[in-house]
Amino acid sequence: MSKRPRIAVVGSANIDLTTFTDKFPKPGETMFAPKFDLGFGGKGANQAVAARLCGAEVFMVARVGDDLFGPATIENFHRQGIDPTHVKQVPGLSSGVAPIFVEPSGQNRILVVKGANDALKPADVDEATDVLKSADCIVLQFEIPIETVYHTVAIARKHGIRCIVNPAPAQAVDMTELKGLDYFVPNESEAETISGLPVKDVEEANRVARKFLHGGVQRAIITLGSNGSLLASRDAIEHIPAFPVKSIDSTGAGDAFIGSFAVFLGEGLPEKEAVRRANLYAGLSTTGVGTQKSFYDRARFEAEWAARA
Ligand code: RIB
Repeated sequence: MSKRPRIAVVGSANIDLTTFTDKFPKPGETMFAPKFDLGFGGKGANQAVAARLCGAEVFMVARVGDDLFGPATIENFHRQGIDPTHVKQVPGLSSGVAPIFVEPSGQNRILVVKGANDALKPADVDEATDVLKSADCIVLQFEIPIETVYHTVAIARKHGIRCIVNPAPAQAVDMTELKGLDYFVPNESEAETISGLPVKDVEEANRVARKFLHGGVQRAIITLGSNGSLLASRDAIEHIPAFPVKSIDSTGAGDAFIGSFAVFLGEGLPEKEAVRRANLYAGLSTTGVGTQKSFYDRARFEAEWAARA
């Protein structure tokens, strides 16, 4: 039987306000939109939920607001079986929220108001050091202060814990702070913003992945949506295709990829196999509406994997 990985996510928790629409109002205009969905989101929380649904033991380190969303978010972690000991409410701040717009093709546009996520400081991560030290893998994104990301990467490095950084949403990165990082996992648009180079196809992704490796990370994975992923290390760069799915909402697919990948890797699967599986897990998440609620549990995923792989 494979090992049950322990995964610590240091990251964001948001409330997602998703509007489905094929048109956007002009300045000063009011329009009707056909459908709305309210759900728990945030890149960190989504990755934690994906990892939990795939079977890991999951610990969350996060900050939520002093509003009705704060306790509801903590309750959601309990309900999902995620340990929220290090998720705390910050007095006087709102929770993170994300107005999201989804087009009929499933493509999304997201605005994030960081709120309490921005109050997760390096000292808060230090308070969770025991949990982090006990983890097989630490997972980070960019919806918390960047100095907190760098600080946590340094903790992972010091204690020899596998670390995955998902630089989303994209912002300028000091690659020297990520030296020796196990996995740097942007999507194509994040890879473009961070590298300053285009990523329109697999060949361009290849060039950008080499730039990241040159910057000092051990491996880069560039997720390419319906084109799959590019897995790059110093030894080899491989394009790993996606599985065909009928996509209705791509929101959270990157989070599904990261959370499931951390589990597959933690279970001891070879890297390439872990990426293939994560490609399918992410693809399946786009067949449902929302983020966390569109993620498959392990049994449903295994049934799809057996049918397709
Ligand atoms: O990756 C999807 C997530 O991005 C949403 O849940 C939203 O909250 C934003 O963080």
